[in-house]
Amino acid sequence: MFNKITVVGAGNVGATAAQRLAEKNLARSIVMVDVVEGVPQGKALDQWQSGPVEGYDTRVLGTNDYDAAQGSELFVVTAGIARKPGMSRDDLVKTNAGIVKSVSEQIKRVAPDSLVIVVSNPLDAMCYVAFKNTGFPRERVFGMAGVLDTARYRMFLGEALDVSVEDISAMVLGGHGDTMVPLVSYTTVSGIPVSQLIEPERLQAIVDRTRNGGAEIVAHLKTGSAYYAPSSAAVQMVEAIVLDKKRVLPCSAWLQGEYGLKDVYCGVPVKLGRRGIEQIVQITLTPDEQAALRRSADAVRELTDKLKI
Ligand SMILES: NC(=O)c1ccc[n+]([C@@H]2O[C@H](COP(=O)([O-])OP(=O)(O)OC[C@H]3O[C@@H](n4cnc5c(N)ncnc54)[C@H](O)[C@@H]3O)[C@@H](O)[C@H]2O)c1
Repeated sequence: MFNKITVVGAGNVGATAAQRLAEKNLARSIVMVDVVEGVPQGKALDQWQSGPVEGYDTRVLGTNDYDAAQGSELFVVTAGIARKPGMSRDDLVKTNAGIVKSVSEQIKRVAPDSLVIVVSNPLDAMCYVAFKNTGFPRERVFGMAGVLDTARYRMFLGEALDVSVEDISAMVLGGHGDTMVPLVSYTTVSGIPVSQLIEPERLQAIVDRTRNGGAEIVAHLKTGSAYYAPSSAAVQMVEAIVLDKKRVLPCSAWLQGEYGLKDVYCGVPVKLGRRGIEQIVQITLTPDEQAALRRSADAVRELTDKLKI
């Protein structure tokens, strides 16, 4: 296990992620930092007190002071505002860029050797802000989106085919937005190509629903956005790192020519282990998928260009 993991932001995603990390015994201590006084302290104490019942010894500490995060091996950054109905993820860019910049400067100060998983939206642009403001190498700054988008896609497929989600292997690439790219050509059920099991129109409807997966939940909740599945997805990435599992998962990574894309954060398959991104895995895409990935990266670049960092 790690000695210390810090979750920045004690809101819906951050607090749920902290709880899941504690329950999985992935670190000796989980630190939760937020700007609101009392909230991280209260939520952390409450979570720590579930340890005797759930059977974990993880200490959960809530604070407004980054000094408590000193020496953390890994940060999960969830600080920022979330979407409300009618808002796109991109509408959050200015506010969250300021927040993620200040968080990144604190991370660099208290834990210059750490790994950073960005969750705040708009995801790929916020990865860029964290990358620039920590100055860390790309292996140590990456984003969670593809694992969540893939989980949604697998859940919808599992429901439609009435099969276990465990048997569905799939990957959603691209930016975390309407331009995301579910890879139909690599979707299988226990090795069987999905196209042999479902009609093209039904599959297309699932792809479309996946692209709108976040907005569907925002429309239900009205205040705030999804957090159970997002926190699970972030914790799956943490687990791959802490246990050095070398899992191949879709994550937002700073691309340097891979997939024909350069100087942009975009969701691609990566190998996650103790050192963070240990490899960007390059796979062959169909011409349509390659074109969709490029469009998605262009949309991310358009947004990050507005930040003028
Ligand atoms: N990448 C993804 O797939 C994904 C999925 C879900 C949510 N998100 C994003 O994650 C972010 C958090 O979502 P949420 O539902 O937890 O929102 P939330 O409003 O419940 O929590 C955000 C928390 O951040 C805190 N915060 C604000 N500024 C801060 C700062 N400078 N330092 C520390 N904490 C600060 C707030 O006080 C609040 O507690 C949003 O930007 C949301 O869009 C991303």
